[in-house]
Amino acid sequence: MKFSLFGHKKRGVPEPSERAVPRHVAIIMDGNGRWAARRGLPRSAGHAAGAETFRRVATYCKSIGIEYLTVYAFSTENWKRPPEEVDVIMELLEKYLIEAIGKMERDRVKMKFFGDLSALSDKLRALIRETEEISAKFDGVQVNICVNYGGRGEILRAARLWRDSGAPELTDELFGGYMYSAGVPDPDLVIRPGEETRVSNFLLWQSAYSELYFTDTLWPDFTPRELDKAISVYNSRERRYGGVL
Ligand code: FPP
Repeated sequence: MKFSLFGHKKRGVPEPSERAVPRHVAIIMDGNGRWAARRGLPRSAGHAAGAETFRRVATYCKSIGIEYLTVYAFSTENWKRPPEEVDVIMELLEKYLIEAIGKMERDRVKMKFFGDLSALSDKLRALIRETEEISAKFDGVQVNICVNYGGRGEILRAARLWRDSGAPELTDELFGGYMYSAGVPDPDLVIRPGEETRVSNFLLWQSAYSELYFTDTLWPDFTPRELDKAISVYNSRERRYGGVL
C-alpha cells in the first residue's frame, strides 16, 4: 500500500520527486472505432492505430518501471462484431506476436494471455504458446493481454476449477489462485480511455480496490503523457482499502 515514494498522503498532485509508479496498470483500450469514424476511415484503421498505441504505451511502461501492464484486447462479447472486424483484430494480434517473438531477447518482456484461448485459431494459439514459453524466463516487466476474456467468465471458471480440485478450503487468496492472473498482484490503476465510464467485464475480481481513471481521449490518441497524467491523479488519491488513515 504505497502513496508515493515518500509516503505523501495529502490530496493534490504531488511533486514529481514524490511520485510513485503504480506496480500494476490495467487498460481498457477503447475508442478505436470512433477514432477511425471521425477521420472517415474504416474501423480496421482504428484497430491498427490502437495496436501502435499499445506498442508505444507498453514500451513507456517498461521505461518508467511499471512491473505489470494488463490490456483488454478482445472480450468474450466482441465476437458479436462483424467477422471482418474480428479477423482484423486477430490479425493484428498475430502480427504483434510475430514481431514480439523476433525482438524478445532484446526487449525481455514476459508476456501472458488471459482468457479462453480455445476459441482462437490454431495459428494464434501456437504464437501465444511460443510467446509465453520463450518469455517465461524474463522477470522485469510483464505484459498480460486479455483475449476472449470476460471477468464474470473468469470468476465462474475459477469456481469450477476449485470445485473440481476437491480442495476443502476457500479464501480470498486461494480463489485468486484460480484466476488467469494467478500470481500477479491486483491492478493499482485501471485506465479507460474512450469517453465511456464503465468497467465492461474487465478484471472484476482483481480490481476490487483499484483506482479507476477515465479519459475522453480515444485509445489511438492516448500518449505516454496521458499515462503520466493518470499516474499523477493516482498519486493524488488516498487508497484506504475500506479502512481509515
Ligand atoms: C475497442 O475499441 C477496441 C477493441 C475491441 C480492440 C482492441 C484491439 C487492439 C488495440 C489491436 C490488437 C491488440 C494488440 C495488443 C496488438 P472499439 O472498437 O470498441 O471502439 P469504439 O467503441 O469506438 O467502436
